[in-house]
Amino acid sequence: MNLDQQARAILRGNDKGGYTVPTHGLYPYQWNWDSAFAAWGFSTFDVPRAWDELDTLMASQWSDGMVPHIIFHQDDPGYFPGPDVWNTGQTPPTSGISQPPVAATMARQIWEVDRDAGEARMRALFPKLLKWHRWWHEFRCTHGPAAITHPWESGRDNCPDWDKGMEGVDGSGVGEYTRRDTGHVDASMRPKKEEYDRYITMVQFGVKVGWDQARIVAEGPFLMADPGITFILLRGHEDLAVMGRALGEDVSEIEGWTHQLRNALPLIWNPELRAYDAKNLLTGEFAGVLGSGAFMAYLADASNPELDAELLRVWDAVNYGIPSADPEASIFDPRRYWRGPSWPFANALMAIGLRDAGRDDLEERLRRETAALIEAHGFYEYFDPIDMTPCGGADFTWTAAIWLTWAGKDVAETHQKGAA
Ligand code: DGY
Repeated sequence: MNLDQQARAILRGNDKGGYTVPTHGLYPYQWNWDSAFAAWGFSTFDVPRAWDELDTLMASQWSDGMVPHIIFHQDDPGYFPGPDVWNTGQTPPTSGISQPPVAATMARQIWEVDRDAGEARMRALFPKLLKWHRWWHEFRCTHGPAAITHPWESGRDNCPDWDKGMEGVDGSGVGEYTRRDTGHVDASMRPKKEEYDRYITMVQFGVKVGWDQARIVAEGPFLMADPGITFILLRGHEDLAVMGRALGEDVSEIEGWTHQLRNALPLIWNPELRAYDAKNLLTGEFAGVLGSGAFMAYLADASNPELDAELLRVWDAVNYGIPSADPEASIFDPRRYWRGPSWPFANALMAIGLRDAGRDDLEERLRRETAALIEAHGFYEYFDPIDMTPCGGADFTWTAAIWLTWAGKDVAETHQKGAA
């Protein structure tokens, strides 16, 4: 099988019927942003299945508008923390936090493949996406930029951006639990035990307040502004507004959010770092460390020459793709999850931004380097950006998806598709 065929086989193999697991074993449920990328991948060979994926995701939207980060369709003892730990009372059970809102941007990519076929599907999805974006503003943008109440909400779980906020979480009373992730993947590639104690403590806090999102923001142990989600949400608003206008919907509320979020960007610009930076909203302190979330700025047309220089500095310090943490900082750990590795799907997301920013040279470089990782080792979750070592889960859905949509294509081909 060639790589295109392998990628399609991975998507089909991870398809549980209406939803796709990120990979068997390590992540046996439906994850929010993984699912949006799965939909994008399906759109290259089965457009109706792509829309189905987004429908299944949005079907678990909470009544307050939140779309949860995990949907536990069927129990699986191989994952911790499972539905009994989250205890959110939803049917099917879900986690109690959200994840980066890439679904509108992925919906737009799918809609662009065939607008006529997508019209009815998008019309049905539009009010749900709108409600979810409203939820971000009501419950997470209370301080201006988009904030997270748990590192898992950022999707970039253990990246250094959250270290300062994590210091404020006391994980000592967490009690006994057994991790399952390290039974599937080498422990040196996963977050550490001290981090897990705090992750679970934050889940326990949510349970304690009955997953009341306003209380979690006001009283919870962790609240940090996330540049990554801020830019992804801004971009999502723009994509949603484009589709809304084409459908004849009123998009003035979306335009208002866009305006608000853009005005909040100076709050996450750290002049000392010369980059966007995460900020601990409980103390007002910047994270003080350059993370991959900052480079999502390209997605939202929010880059500038200082950020361009930082991007090239961290990128030139490695060989394959944009690293998830600064290789010149002491916290860099090239194989540990979000503390250094290159993530193909994150490269693909940044590439959409680079292309829109007119940086075709950088997009092409990123595509070549990402493709080289997959060509050498297959569809792993993430890779050592210096020596290509494949890390995390194998046969990963979003790595297969971005091969089909971007990394495995000629750039000329993807441009043509984007313009169609
Ligand atoms: C995990 O289990 O590591 C997930 O990233 C949490 O969403």
